[in-house]
Amino acid sequence: MHIHPEFHRFLQRQDKEKLLGQRGIVVWLYGLSGSGKSTIANAAERVLHQQGRFTTILDGDNLRTGLNSNLGFTDEDRMENIRRIAETAKVFVSQGIITFVSAITPRGELRDLARGLLGDDLFEVYIKASYEACEKRDVKGLYAKAARGEIQHFTGKDGSFEIPQDSDLVLDTENSTIADAAFELLEAIRDRIAPANGS
Ligand code: ADX
Repeated sequence: MHIHPEFHRFLQRQDKEKLLGQRGIVVWLYGLSGSGKSTIANAAERVLHQQGRFTTILDGDNLRTGLNSNLGFTDEDRMENIRRIAETAKVFVSQGIITFVSAITPRGELRDLARGLLGDDLFEVYIKASYEACEKRDVKGLYAKAARGEIQHFTGKDGSFEIPQDSDLVLDTENSTIADAAFELLEAIRDRIAPANGS
């Protein structure tokens, strides 16, 4: 391979974090379609923004209109989808940015991939809601379509979803409000995003 990655000459992560007055983290929200991932990420990001934190959201649906527009929902494509999202998150977190990822990430193998790329920067949050609850909400009308057999590999139906056993946090959106879930999430990451010198 004729590539020569250079990292040491560039400004370091600590330089960026000092400028921003925060530490970077990747808060990865996973769960079924319609479980509340993007809604919670949006609510949490807005609170942090108000507090003067620099944040971003990498949203599976949105990225699938651009960076990941050539990918579908086979196991192989989801693997590549998650790899690209994790690599992108890695670039952001290395700039000290508080990065939310909202992607179904349905299998342990995919979460392991993200963990392998992000290591200790990764904070995994399972957004818990049953297939039945998401089907009842059906915000995007996808569950009705899946029931009619119009969507292949639909997560939770003919596409598997492995319930995570070892996430850092579980937020149950069937039994709490979005505001409460966002608050709980922010409490859980508070110390990890505080600036290194405590100011
Ligand atoms: S992931 O499984 O690869 O992590 P991702 O979060 O990027 O999925 O995209 C999921 C979104 O794609 C869903 O929220 C939904 O709007 C849409 N979608 C389209 N087809 C499917 C499908 N077969 N299974 C799940 N979601 C789908």
